[in-house]
Order: sequence, then structure tokens, then C-alpha cells
Amino acid sequence: MALNLLMLGPPGAGKGTQAERFAKAKGIPKISTGDILREAVANKTEIGLRAKAIMDRGELVNDEVMIGIVQERLGRPDAAGGFILDGFPRTVAQAAALDGIMTGHDPLIVIDIVVPEDELVRRLGTRTICRLCGETGPVGCEVGGACAKCGGRLVQRTDDNKAVVLERLKVYHRQTEPLVEFYRIRPTFRSVDGAQPPDRVAADLAAAIAAAAATGAAGVQG
Ligand code: AP5
Repeated sequence: MALNLLMLGPPGAGKGTQAERFAKAKGIPKISTGDILREAVANKTEIGLRAKAIMDRGELVNDEVMIGIVQERLGRPDAAGGFILDGFPRTVAQAAALDGIMTGHDPLIVIDIVVPEDELVRRLGTRTICRLCGETGPVGCEVGGACAKCGGRLVQRTDDNKAVVLERLKVYHRQTEPLVEFYRIRPTFRSVDGAQPPDRVAADLAAAIAAAAATGAAGVQG
């Protein structure tokens, strides 16, 4: 059975951190819509130019654009044996479109990473990313330090200032959190406590995915 995974959770929950680790361990692509958009912004493509102001305000890019991006990406050969989606879907319309795209494929395994709000604000306020390659700095890294991957300078993400973080959390509660109820009724849905050290979260996540995959393989459909 192909591991078709998606990570739910608020900004700062650790979706990207855990998706990266799991994808590497399993040899499947991590598909982050945030990374795809940031790359488009850096390359000044038409989508990037339109998305930048929206992202800098902490709002969501329009559903039609995001669904088109993900449909194209999931159609590439490397996603045929499984994938891990990070940051998509973020609205009920995106989730419904994803169900359409996944018709006839192995079931989606949905992992919701749960972290208290004060911890999310703390993490995003201290997160660094590399100016050159976009890699997230390890926990505890400071702005001005060097990226472990390419040596580039670590900076703060433009949407990680306090006001935008609070707006992103509001947008999450309004538009994305309803997806937890949308997916919770499926047998391949699991929640993971994300307020633990990263290695502990990774272990719980791997166990939750294995349990959900066993349910999916037993032919129980959502
Ligand atoms: P996106 O890049 O997806 O941002 P996000 O959802 O706000 O998520 P983050 O990347 O902030 O957090 P994360 O959960 O991945 O946490 P991370 O692992 O980095 O989207 C950005 C923007 O793009 C959106 O606001 C929107 O405008 C647009 N967009 C993207 N997708 C879209 C879509 N589908 N539809 C419409 N618009 C879309 O960790 C955070 C920090 O915590 C890091 O510093 C990390 O080192 C640290 N950390 C991680 N785990 C732990 C731990 N266990 N303990 C302590 N620290 C930890």
C-alpha cells in the first residue's frame, strides 16, 4: 500500500520538521505548499508575485491556485509510490478537491499535530530559516547564524513577526481547523502530541502512521 500522508496542524506545530524527517526515512517526496509558494516568490513567477502580499499578511492563497499546484505535483511519477503533504489542504474546498484527486488511490492517512497556542507563538517567534536554501534552522538557532546545509545566513521568515503570526493563527482557527472534524470520522485519522521533543514526536508519528496504514490496508475506507 502506498503511504499517502497529510499533516494537519496549526502554524508552528512542527508539520514541516516532521514531514521532512519521515519523508527522508521512507524515501517518499515531501510536498509543502508553503515551500512551493516561497520558491515561486523567490523566482518572481506570476503566482509568486501574486502570493507574496497574501502570505506576508498571513492570509491564504486562493483555493483554485493551490488545488492546481497540488494536482500537478501529485501527478508527477515520484508521488505514485506515496507522498507526504505539508500545508495542504487548508480549507474544506481544498480537502474536497484532494478527495477527488485521490479517487481510486490508496486511502489518505491524516495526522493532526496538536500543540498549545502559547508554544506555537514561542516557536514561530524564534524560528530561523536560511536565506539561500530556505532550510529551517534547528531548534535553538539564532538569526545571523550559519545554515547547517549550505552555510547561508539564517534569518527570520517574513511572516513570523508577532502580528502576522497572530493573524495566521486566527486564519487557521477559522479556515483550517474545521478540517480536523472533516477527517476525524475516517479510520485512517490519528492525532499526535506535538508538544514533546522532536524525537519523541517523530516516534509517536511513526507509530500513528503504522497503525493508520494497517487500518487502511485492512480495506476500511473513510
Ligand atoms: P506554510 O509554510 O505551510 O506555514 P504554516 O502552516 O504556517 O506552517 P509553518 O511552516 O509555520 O509551521 P510548521 O507546522 O511546518 O512548523 P515547523 O516544522 O516549521 O505556509 C505559509 C503561507 O503560505 C500561509 O500562511 C499561506 O499564506 C500560504 N499557503 C501555504 N499553503 C497554502 C494552502 N494550502 N492554501 C492557501 N495558502 C497556503 O516548526 C516551527 C518551529 O518550531 C521551527 O523553528 C522548528 O525548529 C520548531 N520545532 C518543530 N518541532 C518542535 C518541537 N517538537 N519542539 C520544539 N520546537 C520545535
